[in-house]
Amino acid sequence: MAAQQQQNIDGFLAAENEAAKVILETVKKDGFILVFSHLDADGVAAAGVMGKMLSRLDARFRIRVMQWVDEKIIGEVIADKPQLVILTDFGSGYLDLLNEKIPNVKVVILDHHQTTSKVVNPNFTQVNPHLFGIDGATDVSGSGVAYFAAKAVNVSNVDLAPIALVGALGDMQDKYEQRSLRSLNEIIVNDGVAAGLLKVEKDLIFFGRETRPIYKMLATTTNPFIPGLSGQETESLNFVANLGIPLKQGDKPRSLCDLTADERKRLCSALADYLLSKGLHLEVDNLIGYVYVLTKEEPNTALRDAREFAVVLNSAGRMDRPSLGIAICMGDRKAALEESNKILEDYRKNINKYLGWVAEKPERMRELQNIYVIYGENFINEKIIGTVSSIIVSSLANNEKPLFAFANIEAEKAAKFSGRTTEAALRRGVNLGDVMRLASEAHGGKGGGHNIAAGAQVPLDKLDAFLKTADELVGRQLKGEKLASHDNA
Ligand code: C5P
Ligand code: C5P
Ligand code: ZN
Repeated sequence: MAAQQQQNIDGFLAAENEAAKVILETVKKDGFILVFSHLDADGVAAAGVMGKMLSRLDARFRIRVMQWVDEKIIGEVIADKPQLVILTDFGSGYLDLLNEKIPNVKVVILDHHQTTSKVVNPNFTQVNPHLFGIDGATDVSGSGVAYFAAKAVNVSNVDLAPIALVGALGDMQDKYEQRSLRSLNEIIVNDGVAAGLLKVEKDLIFFGRETRPIYKMLATTTNPFIPGLSGQETESLNFVANLGIPLKQGDKPRSLCDLTADERKRLCSALADYLLSKGLHLEVDNLIGYVYVLTKEEPNTALRDAREFAVVLNSAGRMDRPSLGIAICMGDRKAALEESNKILEDYRKNINKYLGWVAEKPERMRELQNIYVIYGENFINEKIIGTVSSIIVSSLANNEKPLFAFANIEAEKAAKFSGRTTEAALRRGVNLGDVMRLASEAHGGKGGGHNIAAGAQVPLDKLDAFLKTADELVGRQLKGEKLASHDNA
């Protein structure tokens, strides 16, 4: 590892030690701790890590999961008078607000979003990879930052490493070669392997490795996309059957994880030949990647594959049942797990309904000069708009134009925006976190996030003005301009 990189990591871990110290001091005085976390897979995983760490300390605490920090939450903090507030998977974007409203409350922030705040307050302890030259979009997630704090509190918390990886994969941090995790995430992988809880394998990289019948797995894949098989169940079934690979073992459908080494090899080379015959040389490289197996989980369950586990947590968080996800992270394998399977099914149905709805009428997705916009309005749930945005961005023909999807939050007379973009756009200079922050603040809203994925809340009556500004700001970034913190169009 390069010396500079090691120095960055050392600085980051020293900050984690500071956070651990504050947590331990509070627990020692029997202080009450309020934990707030973000509602996606990474946020729920971070909440699970905190929950396990605090219950092991016999601490008095409560966990709340939400989409963002706002005045309501500040009100809750003021009413409950906790001795410590811990924010996981968000917080760095709210430093100014916290400093203005609750400057005297002790706060620990364990986050990985970009931040521009200059606030220094001795009551606030912030751990964020960006402060140490580490990219929070790819190298460590919110649950990873929470994990290193838990490990600094007590090294026995290394058994939470698999949960932290689930969070990283939920945030799509497997952006390195062959979908591997690197940097701080790799340290967590190594901890999990050393603790005997995790196995890293190279395999065909389809989603549903543990739970989907092989042909269904092929038919539902969008990444890699296989023309003629993706979306085609019958063709996929014939493809597998023609290779002499039995589809069932007794009554039980076989999944990718059930294949023998020889069957797997046959499937892999047949897929490669098939893609080459279609002239898709590049796609062949995307067939194989790193998979992260939670070895203590039952085979053929969603919790055994870290990517499938992440979707379980995402569905719990976004379907208003985050406590189910937290319970699973903390070890519940009975009632919570059973119920989460039902929630997952409903979640998938909702997503399919939304994708169908968007495709139905052209005015639901419009193309501006530099961005696409999905008008989810009152149809798409504002907690699921992020997932819809993530799915649709990868299918856009012009993948240098970022996608801005929004849904209305009528009670607050606001629109919730979820922006997603691609590596190609990042290479051209797009940073959605900056665009969301600047464009929303220019129109009475609030926003921010990562370069590749960011969000905002904007007053409904400022919708068009916000979109115009965002379109212009992306245009300026595409021309190579780096936006300053005061820039707006
Ligand atoms: O708040 P948080 O960081 O947890 O959310 C990150 C979001 O950004 C996730 O919904 C994930 O899908 C998206 N993301 C992405 N590509 C990345 C990193 C994050 O699409 N490289
Ligand atoms: O909500 P959504 O999944 O679209 O958010 C994308 C990313 O932007 C997440 O990492 C989220 O935490 C972040 N975000 C933010 N500030 C907001 C809204 C979203 O930092 N106001
Ligand atoms: Zn996150």
